[in-house]
Amino acid sequence: MGTRRILMCPPDYYGIEYEINPWMSRSRQADPEAARRQWESLFDLLQGRLGLRISLLAPMKGLPDLVFTANAGLVRRGTFIPSHFRHPERRGESPVFRGWFEEEGYEIRSLPRNLYFEGEGDVLRVGGDLFAGYRIRSDIRTHAGVGEILEERVLSLELTDPRFYHLDTCFCPLAEDAAAYYPPAFDPYARRVIEAHVPRRVEVSPEEAMRFACNAVVAERKAVINTGCENLKTTLRGMGYEVWETDLSEFIKAGGAAKCLVLFLD
Ligand code: ARG
Repeated sequence: MGTRRILMCPPDYYGIEYEINPWMSRSRQADPEAARRQWESLFDLLQGRLGLRISLLAPMKGLPDLVFTANAGLVRRGTFIPSHFRHPERRGESPVFRGWFEEEGYEIRSLPRNLYFEGEGDVLRVGGDLFAGYRIRSDIRTHAGVGEILEERVLSLELTDPRFYHLDTCFCPLAEDAAAYYPPAFDPYARRVIEAHVPRRVEVSPEEAMRFACNAVVAERKAVINTGCENLKTTLRGMGYEVWETDLSEFIKAGGAAKCLVLFLD
């Protein structure tokens, strides 16, 4: 597959300025210096160990969640499908993300304006299928549009637990035929869809799901994961992965960890 490119955004203006998921509380602020150190450690691992090529988006004052580039939209072979955020608090990010993709020469393909869609936070690939989460953030009716634009099959998965509000908080592609996931975050039918379409499944425990174990960044046979996810780390190593852990506590205060801070560009 060669070297994959990702988009990240430094945490210069990151903070907990509003509450749009159960993890966020304005009374539990992120420490700016710790956040900066954690983001830089993640950056170094992704670049140095996973060998990813990292493009940077300039941070902007007043957009504290811009660091979560996974929610910019969805990218596939030069096409960018922009997000439409459910919460007004994040909508100011859209023109910034869009501007970056326009400048980089991507073809912009928008979904119907009346529907919510939160990008790669809710759409992940396993093998030949796109898996897409809905209900808490993205609308299920965006899935058909995504499938048409990208000419791919999209399997819809209903999310049921507000703590696991994006697909990438409870589902982590590992290989063409494998994914880690936290079954209780899905409705029973979604669990059956996963069982039917993902041959090798790793179930994550409640404790590790709460530590964002499923929000790992995986590239080829290498993974970066939040600290305190010992079981998943051991399982992945047993499957032949190299695994690095890094503390992302300051970002979990906003409801995000490693994968949320990354958008795959190819
Ligand atoms: N505070 C952000 C929100 O609630 C966190 C986004 C995390 N991103 C992700 N891909 N899960 O929208």
